[in-house]
Amino acid sequence: MARLRAALSFAVFSLLVLLLLGSVQVQAEPESPVEAPPDTHRHEKRVGSGGPYWLSQIKRQGKVAYGANSSYVIWRNVRDYGATGDGVTDDSDAINNATADGNRCGANCDSQTTTPAIVYFPPGVYATSKPLIMYYYTQFIGDANDLPTILGLPNFFGIGLLDSDVYLPYGATWYQNQNNFYRQVRNFILDITQAPSNAHGLHWQVAQATSLQNLVFNMIEGNGTTQIGIFMDNGSGGWMEDLIFNGGNYGFLSGNQQFTSRNMTFNGCQTAIYQNWNWVWTYKSLTINDCPIGIDMTTGGEVITTGSMVVQDSVFNNVGVGMLTYFSSNSTPTAAGTLVLDNVDFVDTPSAIAYPNGTIILEGNQNVPSFLQGRVYSAYDSQEHIGNLTCYEPTANSARVQQLAGAPPKSESLLTPSGTFVERSRPQYEGVPVESFVSILDYGCKGDGVSDDTACVQGYFDSILDSEVAFIDHGAYVIRETIKVPTNIKMVGEIWPLFMIDGSSSTFSDINNPQPAFQVGQPGDVGAVEMSELCFETLGPAPGAIMMEWNLAGSSAGAAGMWDVHWRIGGTNGTQLQSTQCTKTPNIATTVNSSCYGAFMLLHITNTGSVLMSNNWGWVSDHELDLADHNQINIYNGRGVLIESQGPVWMYGTSFEHSQLYNYQIANGKDIYMGIIQSETAYMQDNPNAVAAFSPTDTYSDPMFGSCFDATCYKTFGLRIFNSTYVLLYAAGLYSFFNNYDSGCLITSNCQDNMVSVEQSEGIYLYALSTKASTNMVEVDDVALVPQAANLNGFCDTVAVFEYP
Ligand SMILES: *[C@@H]1O[C@H](CO)[C@@H](O)[C@H](O)[C@H]1NC(C)=O
Ligand SMILES: *[C@@H]1O[C@H](CO)[C@@H](O)[C@H](O)[C@H]1NC(C)=O
Ligand SMILES: *[C@@H]1O[C@H](CO)[C@@H](O)[C@H](O)[C@H]1NC(C)=O
Ligand SMILES: *[C@@H]1O[C@H](CO)[C@@H](O)[C@H](O)[C@H]1NC(C)=O
Ligand SMILES: *[C@@H]1O[C@H](CO)[C@@H](O)[C@H](O)[C@H]1NC(C)=O
Ligand SMILES: *[C@@H]1O[C@H](CO)[C@@H](O)[C@H](O)[C@H]1NC(C)=O
Ligand SMILES: *[C@@H]1O[C@H](CO)[C@@H](O)[C@H](O)[C@H]1NC(C)=O
Ligand SMILES: *[C@@H]1O[C@H](CO)[C@@H](O)[C@H](O)[C@H]1NC(C)=O
Ligand SMILES: *[C@@H]1O[C@H](CO)[C@@H](O)[C@H](O)[C@H]1NC(C)=O
Ligand SMILES: *[C@@H]1O[C@H](CO)[C@@H](O)[C@H](O)[C@H]1NC(C)=O
Repeated sequence: MARLRAALSFAVFSLLVLLLLGSVQVQAEPESPVEAPPDTHRHEKRVGSGGPYWLSQIKRQGKVAYGANSSYVIWRNVRDYGATGDGVTDDSDAINNATADGNRCGANCDSQTTTPAIVYFPPGVYATSKPLIMYYYTQFIGDANDLPTILGLPNFFGIGLLDSDVYLPYGATWYQNQNNFYRQVRNFILDITQAPSNAHGLHWQVAQATSLQNLVFNMIEGNGTTQIGIFMDNGSGGWMEDLIFNGGNYGFLSGNQQFTSRNMTFNGCQTAIYQNWNWVWTYKSLTINDCPIGIDMTTGGEVITTGSMVVQDSVFNNVGVGMLTYFSSNSTPTAAGTLVLDNVDFVDTPSAIAYPNGTIILEGNQNVPSFLQGRVYSAYDSQEHIGNLTCYEPTANSARVQQLAGAPPKSESLLTPSGTFVERSRPQYEGVPVESFVSILDYGCKGDGVSDDTACVQGYFDSILDSEVAFIDHGAYVIRETIKVPTNIKMVGEIWPLFMIDGSSSTFSDINNPQPAFQVGQPGDVGAVEMSELCFETLGPAPGAIMMEWNLAGSSAGAAGMWDVHWRIGGTNGTQLQSTQCTKTPNIATTVNSSCYGAFMLLHITNTGSVLMSNNWGWVSDHELDLADHNQINIYNGRGVLIESQGPVWMYGTSFEHSQLYNYQIANGKDIYMGIIQSETAYMQDNPNAVAAFSPTDTYSDPMFGSCFDATCYKTFGLRIFNSTYVLLYAAGLYSFFNNYDSGCLITSNCQDNMVSVEQSEGIYLYALSTKASTNMVEVDDVALVPQAANLNGFCDTVAVFEYP
């Protein structure tokens, strides 16, 4: 996340004004005939294997280890607070009481990791007249076997049935939209068919480590409604999957810096997706049925506010116009409105892409393997003969295009039999009885943030049968030696329990001899490991810790995976790397304080490893989350994720931020899918610079910065690809916002020299690549090939594709 303000979009602002001023639409046309919706999409409760959902049955004994309130209660069942779920009684106060209980992080709090809450809704219909307010670090979870409905009453008034960030007068909000972390909404029907015709299902103004899953939005159908399923004004996200939108004016009004959305179905919306603004967005596996407009990206007119978009493995069925755009030879800035279609089928949809005036850009009724709109770069090695020597020099051709293109070579290992990229929803274990879940606290581990749980955690993992699921109660489990995760295990956390990798252990303190903390499988192992909802931190500086080493290959595509699993280094209670210890020092020449090291590396996917990742955030804290100053801090973490896998690797909706040498590096790897990836360069650089804390080493194929001759060259690489082949990237937002905490370099767009480095590699396809304030976007073998100045977008700089076959 960044402490940056996204441009206020006029369209959203007007919407908001309408909303805050009252039901303007409704008052103006009180009798406007709204067709009664057909029954087909309604209340299609998906019943799992029957029986109560384990999550509602399991013993709740998780505790916050580093909080101020020892009697704080995490788990809340809304029925215990008086919610009736009878579909008639207004349950809003009861539900808001359930969420707010325990002196949590609301207005004037900004952030706090020590008051997490799971608000659980049993099956039923919960009627509401006002927004159900989600505090910071809140999960709203419904019964996955029998989805509860949140029903907007006819007198409903507010920004959405659910509100993730409360608006105050003059546009202020409870939380900074870019810092609104750690949230979930899962397993609900949000029904606004009885609510006013301008109601919204969900106000989702969120940042990293947030997710939506398995939601159905029921809205008024037909012309005349201004209802919206998800109203997203801004933020810095994020992840959503498995959503169904029925009716409404906009299924999804979307605006955010960057986001990944997967498996969303739109039925009979006036416009399925209204893309209000963005920098980077990937839509994977959309199904749009029977909507007059599929995706509208026309905001801003010919001064386009949609930065870039990828639509992948998607189907438009009986859609009037698939996509609306203003991108043309007249539109500005040059790269704004970048669009990449990758395997998109237009069925009974005569116009795939068109201008608002009806002029067709791309005919419909066809399958489109690849279409590109924006700036494209094709790099190659030019040969030069000097005497009888042949020299190779990386070179690139560029153009601004709006046309069909050739599809990239996709390794079969990454694909389903039908040719789409393999994907897998976060497992919720709907059908698994509660008896099959084994609690880590029941096993005897302490999770108190102090006791050494190493042997206990190892014994616990080794004891879990294939038919069981390891349930990691909330707490903080201190680890002092390498934990060997077995080759077959399922584990799920209770609102991100912490594994604290203790830097005072000699195992994790030697910067010259780094050791894995969580070692998933041994080299060459094949199996099935599922991890979800976990968080890894260091306890004090741990410069010799590789937080996770993934050696395992999945026994089938998607069998080995991580969902909603995060790394968070410093900046929170318990880490001993807080604003009291490691506050920023931009005004003095700074040498690395070894008390403020993070880890050696966050994640290492080794040569034999293969994994599906989904919604993972590797955050080296740039600021304090728990202490009241929320000040910016200097934490020196060596590396983000290193991928040496021979494939397949799928990384959906990942973000690695603020490491020193690089955030993402693929070395000696192949067959890697990524979409989207997001990164930020460490804010303190170049005081000190990228190599000050961790000396680059060949052992880990580190970048050597050998060709650097100025200070802004020694900066975190957003993405480095070394000695690798077949890397398919479907959207990236790689940002450099500061030089030594000074954002002045945003004005001159030169916070650093290079953001992406491709070295000794081939088969590289980087789609919808956006960078911020990097003078050169991509270099190949130390030759700068993509100047940011040629690829200006609204905020970032963007190329529709950089390919180096
Ligand atoms: C977020 O969007 C809302 C609605 O458009 C706007 O009022 C607000 O200023 C935006 N916030 C930031 C920080 O850009
Ligand atoms: C963080 O921990 C300290 C005790 O170490 C406590 O005083 C403080 O209240 C905690 N902060 C939060 C937000 O829980
Ligand atoms: C501590 O938590 C309990 C239970 O959640 C709550 O009732 C109480 O108000 C909290 N106390 C303080 C001082 O925040
Ligand atoms: C919500 O909590 C307030 C304050 O404790 C209480 O007065 C009110 O009755 C509660 N509302 C419901 C519906 O339980
Ligand atoms: C929707 O209604 C408006 C006026 O209420 C009308 O101008 C417009 O043509 C209608 N659109 C469709 C698709 O029926
Ligand atoms: C897509 O989501 C639906 C629920 O909305 C779910 O039933 C289906 O399995 C999901 N498909 C994939 C490929 O994730
Ligand atoms: C339609 O709009 C596009 C984009 O504004 C423009 O380039 C084109 O000339 C227009 N076509 C007609 C027929 O007006
Ligand atoms: C050409 O290469 C040969 C060795 O293969 C070398 O002996 C000769 O000097 C070279 N000629 C020139 C002009 O460099
Ligand atoms: C390094 O950080 C530690 C912990 O905050 C602090 O006590 C110490 O004074 C710092 N050292 C220097 C040289 O700033
Ligand atoms: C490049 O990667 C291959 C494996 O793909 C490996 O065998 C080789 O040693 C690597 N080369 C270098 C210079 O690391």
